[in-house]
Amino acid sequence: MKITKPLNLALLAVAGLTFACGGGEKSTETTAETAAPAAAPAQEVSLEDKYKDNPIYIKGIEKVKGSDCTSCHMVDRKIVGPSYAEVAAKYESTEENITMLAQKVIAGGVGVWGEVPMPAHPGLSEEDAKDMVAYVLLLKK
Ligand code: HEC
Repeated sequence: MKITKPLNLALLAVAGLTFACGGGEKSTETTAETAAPAAAPAQEVSLEDKYKDNPIYIKGIEKVKGSDCTSCHMVDRKIVGPSYAEVAAKYESTEENITMLAQKVIAGGVGVWGEVPMPAHPGLSEEDAKDMVAYVLLLKK
């Protein structure tokens, strides 16, 4: 008892001191650490980067850029029409869906995403429209 009591006090004092300095340093360290992973999801790989080597992507984006699609559609933000990422989330990339959506791009249509119509693209061949749609349906998040 006689020995342990002052020892405990000494230990407490030491612990207090190390806590005071060590603790202070540590909190700045942890904020720096937590800031890094928190910022990471914001810089997640863009859909463009994720698929840029995929042949469906390469063929499709070329045709989409050669047409007027980009004036109404963006990859991950809705403008006049739904974003490609939204369209890809709604439809599975099956032959059936690609054909159906290619027909819609050629004929135009309205009512699936809202009241704004997509104009017809009568000059597009079915093959080109399918390549474009296959590219769009690739762009899942
Ligand atoms: C003038 C604006 C405009 C242009 C140009 C345009 N779109 Fe659209 N697109 C829309 C709108 C609006 C919708 C939503 C239509 C709806 O709600 O049914 C849409 C819908 C779509 C859909 C989803 C259809 C569905 O039924 O879910 C696809 C796929 C698509 N567009 C692809 C294309 C491609 C490929 C091109 C270029 C050849 C293109 N769009 C050009 C406005 C446009």
